[in-house]
Order: sequence, then C-alpha cells, then structure tokens
Amino acid sequence: MAKNVVVVGLQWGDEGKGKVVDWLTEHAQGVVRFHGGHNAGHTLVVDGVDYKLNLVPSGIVRKGVQCYIGNGVVLEPHHLLAECKALEARGLEVRSRLKVSPGCPLIFSYHSALDIAREAAKGAGKIGTTAKGIGPIHEDKVARRSLHVYDLFHPQRFGEKLKEVLDYHNFVLTQRFGASAISYQAIYDQAMADAEELHPLVADVSAALYQANKAGHNLLFEGAHGTMLDIDHGTYPFVTSSNCVAGQAAAGSGIGPGMLHHVLGIAKAYCTRVGGGPFPSELDIATADTPGYQMSTKGREFGTVTGRKRRCGWLDVAALKRAVQLNGVSSLCITKLDILDGLPELKLCTGYKLDGKTVELLPLGADDVARCEPIYEALPGWKENTFGARSPEALPANARAYLQRIEQLCEVPINTVSTGPAREEMILKQ
Ligand code: GTP
Repeated sequence: MAKNVVVVGLQWGDEGKGKVVDWLTEHAQGVVRFHGGHNAGHTLVVDGVDYKLNLVPSGIVRKGVQCYIGNGVVLEPHHLLAECKALEARGLEVRSRLKVSPGCPLIFSYHSALDIAREAAKGAGKIGTTAKGIGPIHEDKVARRSLHVYDLFHPQRFGEKLKEVLDYHNFVLTQRFGASAISYQAIYDQAMADAEELHPLVADVSAALYQANKAGHNLLFEGAHGTMLDIDHGTYPFVTSSNCVAGQAAAGSGIGPGMLHHVLGIAKAYCTRVGGGPFPSELDIATADTPGYQMSTKGREFGTVTGRKRRCGWLDVAALKRAVQLNGVSSLCITKLDILDGLPELKLCTGYKLDGKTVELLPLGADDVARCEPIYEALPGWKENTFGARSPEALPANARAYLQRIEQLCEVPINTVSTGPAREEMILKQ
C-alpha cells in the first residue's frame, strides 16, 4: 500500500467503500472521515458479523487502528455517541480509538426539520435527501452561522449562538413552511449532556494527523457518497451538500495535499443511484429476469440509511472517466462483480448523444445529463460463479475481458476487485 491513500466513490455512492477501507486497514494505522455526516452508511462484514456505520470511520472494526473525524464532517453529536455505544455493546473498542475535530459543524433537530419541510414543499421535484439535515447544516456553515464542536464547551456562548440561529430557522419553519417551531431548551439541554460525553474524544485532528504522518503511520482517508453527488462536480442540484472528490480529503481533515500519495477510486461493476436526478444508463428493476432486476435483487440494492430501493443500470464508463479525471485516480477497485454472474450479455455506456453530437464524458449539471442518450458497447457475459473469487485466475475469461475493457476505456489500472461482502472476498492484482 502507498503510504497515505484516499478512497473515494466514483459513482453515486454505495460503491462498497466501507468494505474496501476495512480491507485496507490491515496495512494502515489510521482512518480519517473528511466529509458528509450521518447520512453516509457503510456496511462491513467481518468474520460473518455485519457492522453498519454512519459516522464512525470503517477502521474501527480492526483492532488497534486509530480513527479520526475531520473538520469536514458535519456532526450530529447524539447520533455519534449512540453509534459508538452500539458498537461498544458489540465488543468493539471505540471511544478510546476515536478523535473528533473541534471544527466539525454541529447538526441539531432544526436542521432535519428544515430538510423535511423543504423536501415536502418541493413535491415531485424533491432531491430525495436522507432527511438528516445535511443540506441545512452546510447552508449554515457557508452563511457563517453554524455552531461547532468547539462551541459545546462554552455553555454561555453556545446558548447565545443557538438562540440566534434558532430564531432565524424557526421563523423559516413556521412562516415559510407552516411547520412547528423547535424548542430551544430541548436542544440546549441535550447538547450540554452530549458535550460532557463527547469532551474526551475531542482533539486537534489536523495536528494529530500531521504528527501521525511524521511518525510514519499509513493513513486512509475514507470518502463517503460518490463523485457524481459532489456539490460542484455532480449532477447538481441532485447532489449532496459537500465536496466528495479526493481533493476534499485535505481540506476536510486539515492536512496539505502533499500528504496524500495515492487515490483509490471505487466503482461498482454496474451503476446504482438512490433518490432523484438523472441516470442515463438506468434499467428497469421491476420486471423479473431482466439485468436491472438481477442487479437490484441479487445486489441487495437498498439504502443503508433510508432503506429505499436503489435505482440500477449498466456501468456508465463516460461518467466513470469523468470521475477518474476529477479525482486524479491512481488505481481502480471494481466491486460487486459477482452480481453480474449469469447475465448473457453486459453493456458498457461509453458515451452519449447530446444535441446531435457524441460526448465521451458526463456533462456538468442535471439538466444536460438528463438529455444524454447513452451509447452502449455490448460484451459477452459469463455463466460461472465469481462470488468469493480471490485470484485473477479464478475469474472466467469473459469477466477478465470485461474488467480489461473498463481499464482500457478509463486509462487507469484496476488493481483490486471485490467479489463478495466479506473482508477476504477480494482479488488483488500484483
Ligand atoms: P456510502 O458511503 O453510503 O456510499 O457506502 P459504501 O460505499 O460503503 O457502500 P455500502 O456499504 O452502502 O453498500 C455496499 C454493500 O455491498 C454492502 O452491503 C456491502 O456489504 C456489499 N458489498 C461490498 N462489496 C461487495 C461485493 O463485491 N459483492 C457483494 N455481493 N456485495 C458487496
């Protein structure tokens, strides 16, 4: 493994980043979350046990690995504490191995109330958010009115800032959306109780990472969501509210880009998307015995956080190429190859027809993406079972040809392939 590795999703999230990060922790001493919040959901399967994580970095399942939550993460403090306790109840050592940046903006119940009210008001045009308040807290952050972890330890200051921001949001909730106002006292009391429990975890993550790097630790920077959901580069406005690209690993954890040595891009062998927004290579997932149905059912494509059915489609290489460029991907990891087993024919979306022209990269913004007509290249499928395969030789020739074609089109090597949810169901190409 290169020294410090950024692991990013190259599609619309849910690529299986958590599993890959957990697998890589064998060679790492630290794992860092650098954006997103408790709207992210990673599922890890280790020794037959399932772990579902939202805010806690995926390094927590590997004994001895230090975990960090960087300033780029928007933090719901009560959720974090509950997640830590639930993991500890399952025998993991969590709080003694977790450092939280004082710079994380805090999410409270008025953020989710605003999220829900806005989505309801949008009707059919809704974004399909997770209703966790992620959009509203990012708005507060850039409007310079958010509360941060460091405010929690100054009760008077915290109370004054909370009053001001809550007055502002209660006005919007009641006057604009006709929703109920949120109680100041309930938030204040809960926050102060949580502050006491959170205090031992709070540390200067930026400085700690600098020192860990100096001490020779290998660090993993764990992305959430996916490049196509990036606030600047995704299918705006059907995006999340943070930057999801590898560049955010530096700003969101308080280190310089010179400390990042390798970008590992994770892509599923097909595409999925949850929530609204354009998806050029989308397939029907409702009709039995179709490729989309197989992806949805065999791939268990349901959201970890919301339980919503994910939309499914052929691998969109034109979008993947865009993501490879945006992230400066050094190598690719293809996950869930096993889900395609048994399909007679596979298709790769290699470009689109847009305004009578052929384009080879996903265009910017939802409106143009929605007008893209996919251009497909067909490849033969394979009948054999790839589930759990652990070496390139164990893959059927057509599966190897499928991977080679992706490599060729993207112009980056695929050096890892995941063939099952468990930690060891992985192929590493030497
Ligand atoms: P987000 O940060 O929310 O985007 O999550 P994520 O990228 O970590 O993905 P998530 O854990 O939500 O979804 C991946 C799912 O696929 C999990 O249930 C994994 O256990 C499972 N999974 C990962 N890799 C493979 C694989 O190669 N084959 C199969 N069959 N399942 C896999």
